[in-house]
Amino acid sequence: MLAAQPPMGWNSWNRFLNSNLRADIAATTEKEILAQAKAMVDSGLAAAGYEYIVLDDCYQAKRRDHLGRIQTHPHRFPSGIKGLVDQIHGLGLKFGLYSVPGTLTCAQQYDDYNGDDLGSLNRELIDAESFVEWGVDYLKYDWCRAHLNDGLIAEPTFRKMAEALKTANADIVYSISEYGLFEPHKWAPEFCNMWRTTDDLMPNWPSLLRTIDLQRKLYPYSKPGAWNDPDMLQIGNGELSMAENRAHMYVWAVLNAPLMAGNDLTRMSDEVRDLLAHPGIIAVDQDWGGQQGKVTFADGDLEIWSKPMSQESGFKTASVLLNRGETTGKFDLNRIFETSTELQDVWSGDSVAKGAIDLAAHDALLLLSR
Ligand code: GAL
Repeated sequence: MLAAQPPMGWNSWNRFLNSNLRADIAATTEKEILAQAKAMVDSGLAAAGYEYIVLDDCYQAKRRDHLGRIQTHPHRFPSGIKGLVDQIHGLGLKFGLYSVPGTLTCAQQYDDYNGDDLGSLNRELIDAESFVEWGVDYLKYDWCRAHLNDGLIAEPTFRKMAEALKTANADIVYSISEYGLFEPHKWAPEFCNMWRTTDDLMPNWPSLLRTIDLQRKLYPYSKPGAWNDPDMLQIGNGELSMAENRAHMYVWAVLNAPLMAGNDLTRMSDEVRDLLAHPGIIAVDQDWGGQQGKVTFADGDLEIWSKPMSQESGFKTASVLLNRGETTGKFDLNRIFETSTELQDVWSGDSVAKGAIDLAAHDALLLLSR
C-alpha cells in the first residue's frame, strides 16, 4: 500500500517564501535542492524517517518540449528532472514533484512566474508517463484556482490524474491540494493518498491555531493510505518560538499528519533538528490506532487532542495538552485521566505524576498513557 503511514520528507515551498510571502524563484535551484537533500541525510532526519524531497512550484522552463513534456528551467535546473531524481535516489531518498490540474501554477497566479501551458490540463497522461519515466515517487497536485481559471470541478479533475497515474503504471504517492475548498475528505480517500485540509499554513501562532481549528471534524476520514494533510511543517521558520514549534509538531503527530519539513535543513538549530527528529514524537505520528486525533477536553484556552494508539505500541492513547492562551494554564491530570492510568512525557521519556501541572502560554506537552 502506498503511504501506509503518513508520508515524511521535506518540501521546497515554505523554505522559499520570502518575508513578503512571495516565492523566491531565483533561490529555487537544483544546487539548493540537492543541498537540502544532503542535509536531510547528514542531520539524521533521513535516519529518523524523513524520505521524500519534494520539489514544489517554480522549477519549470517557460515551455514544454516538442513532445509536450514539462521541462525544467535550463539555468536553475540544468540536469533536468531525471538528472535530479537520479541524484536524490543516489542519496537513498525519494523524489516528489509539483504540478497543477489547470493551466496556471500558483506561482504563475500569485508570483508572476513566467510560462505557458505549464499545468497538466489535457496533458494528464503525458505528464503521468513522464513522471514514471523520470522515476518520480510522489506527486503534489495543486488546485490553484482551477475552478475560476479553467472552469474545472475538483473531484473529477483530481480523479482524472489518478486514472492517468494508474494507466501509466505509476507507483507514485498522490498528494492533492485544494485547501479544503470542496470537502476533499469526502471523496479524496477513494483515490488520493493525502489531501490538504486548509489553505497555506504560515509560520506564526495565529495561523497555526487557525489551521488546528480546521482539523476538528476531520478525524473520521483518514486511514492508512489516505491521510488528512493540515499542510507542510513551518517548524524552524518565521516567527514561531520553540514552544510554538513543539505545539505544532505534537498536534501534527496526534493527527497522524504527513510530516513534510519546510525549513532550511542546511542551517537549522540543534533544537529544531532535535524536535523534527524526535523518535518518540515520530512514533506517535506513524502509529495507527484506528482513528486520528480529535479534541477530547476543552476549557477556555486549554485543550487536549487525543488519539488511540495501536496495541503493538504498548500504549493506550497519545494526547497533546495545548495552551492556546497568553498566560500559564493549569491542567488537572487527576481529573482528565483515570486513576489507574500511567503517563509518560514523550519528549523526556519520563513518567509524569498525576497532579496539577502548569503549561506555559503557547506551549504543549505530549503524553502517552497506558
Ligand atoms: C499554493 C500551495 C503551496 C505551494 C504554492 C506553490 O497553492 O498551497 O503549498 O505549493 O501553491 O505556488
